[in-house]
Amino acid sequence: MRILHLSSECAPWAKSGGLGDVVGALPDGLIRAEEGVQCAVVLPLYRAAKEALNKRGLSLVDTGIIADVNLGNVTARVRYLRLDREGKATVFFAACDAAYDRDGIYGHSDDGERFILLCKATVGVAKQLMGGEPDILHTHDWHAALAAALVQTSARALLPNTKTVLTLHNLAYQGIFSKQLVPISGLGWEHFNMECAEWHDHLSLLKAGIALADAVTTVSPTYAREIRTPKFGANLDGFLRRRRLYGILNGIDTEEWNPVNDPHVQGSWSADDLSGKDEARADLMSVCQWPDRKDVPTLGIVSRMTSQKGLDLVAALVPELHAIPARLVVLGTGQPELEDAFKRAARYHQQDVRAQIAFDVPMSHKVIAGCDALLLPSRFEPCGLTQMYAMQMGTIPIVHATGGLADTVDSSRGFSFDHPTVQGLRWAIDQAVQTYRRAPERWRAMQQTSMRTDWSWARSAREYLALYRSL
Ligand code: ADP
Ligand code: GLC
Repeated sequence: MRILHLSSECAPWAKSGGLGDVVGALPDGLIRAEEGVQCAVVLPLYRAAKEALNKRGLSLVDTGIIADVNLGNVTARVRYLRLDREGKATVFFAACDAAYDRDGIYGHSDDGERFILLCKATVGVAKQLMGGEPDILHTHDWHAALAAALVQTSARALLPNTKTVLTLHNLAYQGIFSKQLVPISGLGWEHFNMECAEWHDHLSLLKAGIALADAVTTVSPTYAREIRTPKFGANLDGFLRRRRLYGILNGIDTEEWNPVNDPHVQGSWSADDLSGKDEARADLMSVCQWPDRKDVPTLGIVSRMTSQKGLDLVAALVPELHAIPARLVVLGTGQPELEDAFKRAARYHQQDVRAQIAFDVPMSHKVIAGCDALLLPSRFEPCGLTQMYAMQMGTIPIVHATGGLADTVDSSRGFSFDHPTVQGLRWAIDQAVQTYRRAPERWRAMQQTSMRTDWSWARSAREYLALYRSL
């Protein structure tokens, strides 16, 4: 089976959140799950990707494959460069410096054109990239969704047998642009209607993909149910109720998150012998310049700072931490008001709070492995990966029971609360801290249950392969 993934992110080359992790690991999981699976990924060659490749001393092979794409008054040339990796999925970088050689993956005024370019170019050369027509084109989020729609419309003659999958990683981002982009999108005006690519007289790239992909999936069974309701549907719930949705839970890269051997973390431990985790905590405490106190648990946060993640609820609890008692270590970047709230908290509550406003992968490992419990009070969470990283490392998650958090954290592995309010979060933190202090045996049992769970991609990869085959 030939499977081509198309995405705006793929770790470690380009990552702003979990999408990058998933696309960095799922293709390899598919290859491992079954013999005869040929799998490749396409992503743009951003400036950050060039830097990441240079840092590792890796060079790309020029495939000679070129796509010239009409974007209205200009024609953009995309060259495809290849990274070969032994036993792993091939990674193709779509190079067009005018579009992608800039600081930052997103947030440019021409993001619509940049990702229309990625989709049109890649659909045009998919057959050449894979050495034959792909059986499956698997697209991720709005940046790639248009490619699924094109295969069903203007590119059908080119790819007559290719089936398409669109995975929704986060319905909050829909790729909505001026309808002036319709003529360059490759979709005809006949698709610019409520049942397809139109969103209130604008072009919605995500809607086009949802309408036209052969299968639409999302990253947990609970989120698949939630987004069919007005509360979670981001104005697309009615549209989604008319489509079948597959909820396939993400896995994690258990090589990257491995308590026995993590280059960013001190100590080595397993479910049978947890003692090494104390070294990871001591190391985190020394980074924080705090005394290592075993009687006061450390709560961690590693997160994008957006309203999705519910971090305002944590900020509101800062004055109560000392009495709970608990200490808080925060690593994140995002909305300035949330960054400021945690900077202020760290300044005024030095005994209780540390905040690092940065995107720092080594530090994310130190925090997740070294803290006792990880906080995820997300208002909604399509899947969430950090709670699984935490459980893999013997750190107990405290979560709002929504989306993938509800599907991964039960009472044998963590603490959850039903209402995303300050009181709800406080209640769950109290439960956790009391268990940590008064029932260490139960705490240890939860750590062991978490660590003995298989969080790897093996199960999800089998589910995706079954879906591909059914198409
Ligand atoms: P989302 O994709 O909504 O941000 P996920 O839990 O799926 O949420 O994935 C988040 C990913 O981004 C994880 O790999 C997490 O470790 C990483 N991450 C988030 N914030 C930071 C940060 N400040 N520094 C390093 N890694 C981060
Ligand atoms: C999105 C979601 C997150 C999910 C990730 C990977 O960014 O916010 O919940 O884990 O995609 O699927």
